[in-house]
Amino acid sequence: MAPTEGEKLTNATSTVAISGYEGQERTCYCGELDEKHVGSEVVLMGWVNRQRDLGELIFIDLRDRTGMVQVVTDHKRSPESFRIAKKVRSEYVICVSGTVVKRAPDTENPNSSTGMIEVMADDIKVFNRSKTPPFVIRDEPEPDEGLRMRYRYLDLRRLPMLRNLELRHKATLAVRNYLSQNGFWEVETPTMTKSTPEGARDYLVPSRLDPGNFFALAQSPQLFKQLLMVSGVDKYFQLARCYRDEDLRADRQPEFTQIDIEVSFSDEDRLFGLIEGMMKHLWKEVLGVEIAQPFPRMTWDEAMARYGSDKPDIRFGMEIHDITGVVRESGFMVFKSTIESKGTVRAICAPECAGMSRQELDSLAAQAKEFGAAGLIHLAYLPGGEVKSPVRKHLSDEEISGIAHATGAKEGDLVLIVAGPFEVAVTALGRVRLSLGDELGLIPEGKYEFLWITEFPLLERNEEDARWQAAHHPFTSPVTRHVHLLGSDDDSVKSQIRARSYDLVLNGVELASGSVRIHERKLQDKMFRLLNLSVEEAEEKFGFLLEAFEYGAPPHCGIAFGLDRLVMLMAGAGTIREVIAFPKTAKATCLLTGAPSQVSSEQLEDLGLSLKLNKERKTCK
Ligand code: AMO
Repeated sequence: MAPTEGEKLTNATSTVAISGYEGQERTCYCGELDEKHVGSEVVLMGWVNRQRDLGELIFIDLRDRTGMVQVVTDHKRSPESFRIAKKVRSEYVICVSGTVVKRAPDTENPNSSTGMIEVMADDIKVFNRSKTPPFVIRDEPEPDEGLRMRYRYLDLRRLPMLRNLELRHKATLAVRNYLSQNGFWEVETPTMTKSTPEGARDYLVPSRLDPGNFFALAQSPQLFKQLLMVSGVDKYFQLARCYRDEDLRADRQPEFTQIDIEVSFSDEDRLFGLIEGMMKHLWKEVLGVEIAQPFPRMTWDEAMARYGSDKPDIRFGMEIHDITGVVRESGFMVFKSTIESKGTVRAICAPECAGMSRQELDSLAAQAKEFGAAGLIHLAYLPGGEVKSPVRKHLSDEEISGIAHATGAKEGDLVLIVAGPFEVAVTALGRVRLSLGDELGLIPEGKYEFLWITEFPLLERNEEDARWQAAHHPFTSPVTRHVHLLGSDDDSVKSQIRARSYDLVLNGVELASGSVRIHERKLQDKMFRLLNLSVEEAEEKFGFLLEAFEYGAPPHCGIAFGLDRLVMLMAGAGTIREVIAFPKTAKATCLLTGAPSQVSSEQLEDLGLSLKLNKERKTCK
């Protein structure tokens, strides 16, 4: 809420005298006070959240990072404090000395932890005045996120934001303690490193001493942590800053933090055990919540077939069903031609949605189309037995009842169908499932459903040039049963090869990702051949790692968590920006500092750089 012009003037013209800080000691934080402290003398320091002048009495809500307490000044008890209290305004920094007293019964506030008491002020000092802030500091965020970012230091003064920072601190401390107790060493690796072509676009740092050459900011410590395994570190972790120049979303920032882990002489089962223990420890230490173990596991193929996603939210059902067998002989051309061209027909059943409006159905169809589906067919199983659908006349009664049987649809339910290639059909339905789950209130709050997704495809097509590339990274092992397929040139075989890679998913968010690495040169060479990388190209890109592997690389595996995502889910926040002190905007800018910004021509000259900018669009030519 923007302050009024009047408020601005009030703050700006206040004449209250400023006291120097003379080493006064705070006895406790505001939010720690409760009835146990009644009768205690306290010294509090913090910010004025609000001042209310009731004539004989002046109330100040005093805020620090723990919470708020009500301070009362009475002109009879302390005329000087009363005089100062009259002049303080929101966000002034003050020190209050006084006595904790019980509130009169009719003024108690049971909704606040400090609501049963108040502090009778004996002395108030003003350490600093404040201009009226551009938005009111209160629990609800200012709706204009740009303003929040511009004045992030004020946005962080809000108690929910301070609580998020505290939670992040506790989470990182718990992670460090747990991993250290399990024999892991934290080792720092370079942030300025070599640009490697895999993954996202790099942020580049030009070298002054070696003009024309560039460092890349590390996208992850991947190669260094593998080198540390060759060095015999055995169990490594790092809270590592990572940098990726990619399109941003609610759970993606250009600069983010990983809990990066690598371990020698280990495999999936042991690593999963370690990580599940870490999650249990974190949830218990930080949230006081017990989580059930072991976490369920699902292969990528199963996750895609059942949920249409490699990060399924399993807090609710509404799974995808394969109805290809039911409609194989259908007279309906869409089904027939899809099946003939090796496609599939998949369906979900939305409970008690048979009465859904045209508009709602159109919006679901639009979502399915956004994810590549040619359309979304619906069948409404109405109470009384009638089935309503634009394609009803093309389907036989056997098909109608077969679809109900396969999807578990009852009278009153709605079945939604996509026909198409496997990945298109399940991805589109997976999207519709999520949106319906949300709309129908099927997703329970406060529930934590962890899930391991295993055996991802080893290879994927590059979106730009359709080249095969490593889906995780080129050092990921194929599953043992598929090693013999590595020599194949057949695209359909390549797409079937599965990797010893895994993700940890929580409530539909990819929390962590990792793999068992290739540590034998022969297998690595086969992998490079599969990726169409010549020996020279592989040498050029990863030579230092390959060379290190010639000196006794132990079997090893690892994983990396997105710390920001982890804390976001623990805090119940909707975006990672809520748990990062100084995040970037969706355009990867910092509204507080104005970064990125232009640099002087001298700086460019030092680096041997000159700019060729397209003036109108401010992009490089
Ligand atoms: P990956 O690239 O999957 O794996 O990243 C691991 C985890 O990091 C988080 N993450 C991000 N968080 C915020 N903003 C981003 N832009 C962003 N990108 C990734 C996600 C993701 O699961 N070196 C490998 C890991 C390994 O194999 O050990 C790696 O970086 O939570």
